[in-house]
Amino acid sequence: MIPENTGPAAVIVLAAGAGTRMKSRTPKILHEIGGRSMVGHALLAARSINPRQLAIVVRHERDLVARHLSEQDPAAVIVDQDDIPGTGRAVEVALQALDGEQHLTGTVVVTYGDVPLLSGDLLAELVATHQREANAVTVLTAVLDDATGYGRILRGEDGTVTGIVEHKDASDAERLILEVNSGIYAFDAAVLRDALTHVTTDNSQGEKYLTDVLGLARQAGGRVAAVVTADRWQVEGANDRVQLSALGAELNRRIVEAWMRAGVTVVDPSTTWIDSSVTLDEDVRILPNTQLHGATTVARDAVVGPDTTLTDVTIGEGAKVVRTHGSGAVIGPEAAVGPFTYLRPGTVLGESGKIGAFYETKNVTIGRGSKLSHLGYAGDAEIGEDTNIGCGNITANYDGEKKHRTVIGSGVRTGSNTVFVAPVTVGDGAYSGAGAVIRKDVPAGALVLTVAAQRNTEGWVAANRPGTRSAELAQAATPDSSSTPASTEEGKQ
Ligand code: UD1
Ligand code: MG
Repeated sequence: MIPENTGPAAVIVLAAGAGTRMKSRTPKILHEIGGRSMVGHALLAARSINPRQLAIVVRHERDLVARHLSEQDPAAVIVDQDDIPGTGRAVEVALQALDGEQHLTGTVVVTYGDVPLLSGDLLAELVATHQREANAVTVLTAVLDDATGYGRILRGEDGTVTGIVEHKDASDAERLILEVNSGIYAFDAAVLRDALTHVTTDNSQGEKYLTDVLGLARQAGGRVAAVVTADRWQVEGANDRVQLSALGAELNRRIVEAWMRAGVTVVDPSTTWIDSSVTLDEDVRILPNTQLHGATTVARDAVVGPDTTLTDVTIGEGAKVVRTHGSGAVIGPEAAVGPFTYLRPGTVLGESGKIGAFYETKNVTIGRGSKLSHLGYAGDAEIGEDTNIGCGNITANYDGEKKHRTVIGSGVRTGSNTVFVAPVTVGDGAYSGAGAVIRKDVPAGALVLTVAAQRNTEGWVAANRPGTRSAELAQAATPDSSSTPASTEEGKQ
């Protein structure tokens, strides 16, 4: 029986480099694709192979990076690299930090913080090959069309890996080699520790090269081998923003494809962006130009889009969300949102509810079957069930200093342009007339009207705007009216 693989002794993620080609005040590894920093992706892949310890080596923008790392993976050991440059030195300081009373033994995996598409599966394959073949070092390699800049894999006549030569140190003949070092390896801990004591900075870059460990391990009698991946994206790093966007697009392509294979309809994959943290159920339909971010989840049979951007939004079964910009909201089953709707954090829409066109909502709980169909703002409010909020209703929640709550009951019907001056409560089954400005609580079942007299001043246009098109049309409509204005007042609405 094959013993259960408990994961390697350690993964060391290298992230001390400056990343100057990003031309950014943000450290390179903190730049995001798929809604997660590059180093966040690297840490997830590292964690997925279940290492006993996980270390990450930092130096550039140390404090900013360390803060981010402790949010991403609180258990990761943050190791500071000293003044000695090079990947070999980075691994050496990490090993020193991880070695406790006893030196760690077994497999040590090295990865990079700026290689975001590396999957846990490929890392696991590297470790499995390394352990099965009882190698001293197993390096992950890829064959590229253009290997410029990369370390080249040197192989003997029998094809075994004999070492790595850096591009800057390589001969013209060596530069013709297209198999490159990804920088991702599995090492035997003892071999690695010993070899690093022999690595010098005697090379064109004056750095302590981790790559020198391969030749040294072989000289010491160890077996050195390679796992060649055909998936070059998984070993590609982002050095500048052009590569960052290419990696981001490829990651998105993979995420969207995975969801389609899991039963999600994506009408236009090229304009659909889904963060790696989003979850979708079977039979969800995503229409063109939709971006789903953060902890967004979409339940079965819901339709999202077109032209919708949602962050941390929970969508229930069968709901429809059209041309909506939302964050921190919950949309109930069979509910409808949009078009042109702005859902702000704390919006909770009940089952079969509706938030329609040109609505902004914030911190509002809307009960089952209640509808806010057109043009308005609902904030800091609670609305019961089966209530119909008329066109253009506003919760006036802010007095210039504090926010106040509006509570509206169930079965309420409000007229167009009702304003709720919070704090205010409207009881179950109450009605309001058009233009009501509700400043005082309304009891259940009451009709609330704000009555202002309407005054029509007849003939006003003829007297005050003579010769205009309006006057002409008014004259045509009322041929025998005099030009003297006359007012009539009406006290009732
Ligand atoms: C390195 C490899 C090269 C390989 C390439 C793949 C060495 C000597 N060369 O080259 O064979 O083809 O990666 O991308 O290893 N880092 C530190 N501390 C340091 C230097 C680097 O932590 O002192 C980290 C960087 O943040 C980065 C990674 O190590 O994540 C690689 O560093 P980089 O300078 O990009 O290595 P390359 O010269 O490209
Ligand atoms: Mg370098």
